[in-house]
Amino acid sequence: MPLIELENISRIYKTGQVSVTALKNVNLAVDKGEFISIMGPSGSGKSTLLNIIGCLDKPSTGTYLFNGKHVEKLGDGKLADIRNRYIGFVFQSFHLLTDLDAQGNVELPLIYRGVGRKERQKRAMAALEAVGLAERRRHRPAELSGGEQQRVAIARALVGEPDMILADEPTGALDSVSGQIVMSIFQRLNRERGITIIQVTHAPEIAHHAQRVIYLRDGEIEREEKLSQPLVAEMGIQNK
Ligand SMILES: Nc1ncnc2c1ncn2[C@@H]1O[C@H](COP(=O)(O)OP(=O)(O)OP(=O)(O)O)[C@@H](O)[C@H]1O
Ligand SMILES: [Mg+2]
Repeated sequence: MPLIELENISRIYKTGQVSVTALKNVNLAVDKGEFISIMGPSGSGKSTLLNIIGCLDKPSTGTYLFNGKHVEKLGDGKLADIRNRYIGFVFQSFHLLTDLDAQGNVELPLIYRGVGRKERQKRAMAALEAVGLAERRRHRPAELSGGEQQRVAIARALVGEPDMILADEPTGALDSVSGQIVMSIFQRLNRERGITIIQVTHAPEIAHHAQRVIYLRDGEIEREEKLSQPLVAEMGIQNK
């Protein structure tokens, strides 16, 4: 059974008199444990599609099955439950809280879940270790490089043990070495933990670390490419 099944998804934004069709009849199935990239020109609907997959937004029409359950008609509270339990998010601009150190940022999703302090600390440390940043846990975002900040954001996405990580241009603000480190972390999480990963990117050399690339144009899936030999990220997280 696929983890994600989108059938005839459309998303129309209405702003005053103007309506924009951001997605048109999108059909997409993603299996558990897949690593997928979404590419396409600016405005082609990539973020809109990722937001719908991540239950941050709802389709205007069409059906969405997540883990076999219909989610397209769920209310905001139920959608938030799905996000908290099953999905980790990574964004281009990291979205870290500047007043908290790395550990504090990673603990946040667990605070929302009501996890106790000791357990939170233990799990946040494990997540920071998984991205090679345990010894930077007391650093605030301003005291970390962009690449390190993104790794903290990945640890925050990871700490809730998600089935799936959704990343919108995760390397868009990073230099190429930091981008390779992010790809090596994604590939390891995908391979070793079976976490399903869907990333949006403008860069073919990033996209080709996935097993499949979906190309969007004007809100429609134009084509897809299966990679028999995805690129292997050059750097391990020991490179800091
Ligand atoms: N909240 C919104 N209200 C109205 N229109 C929107 C909204 N969000 C996106 N759009 C429109 O929907 C279309 C798709 O936008 P989307 O952000 O999904 O594109 P994208 O592929 O992620 O682009 P980029 O590569 O620039 O991030 C665009 O025409 C955009 O202007
Ligand atoms: Mg976008």
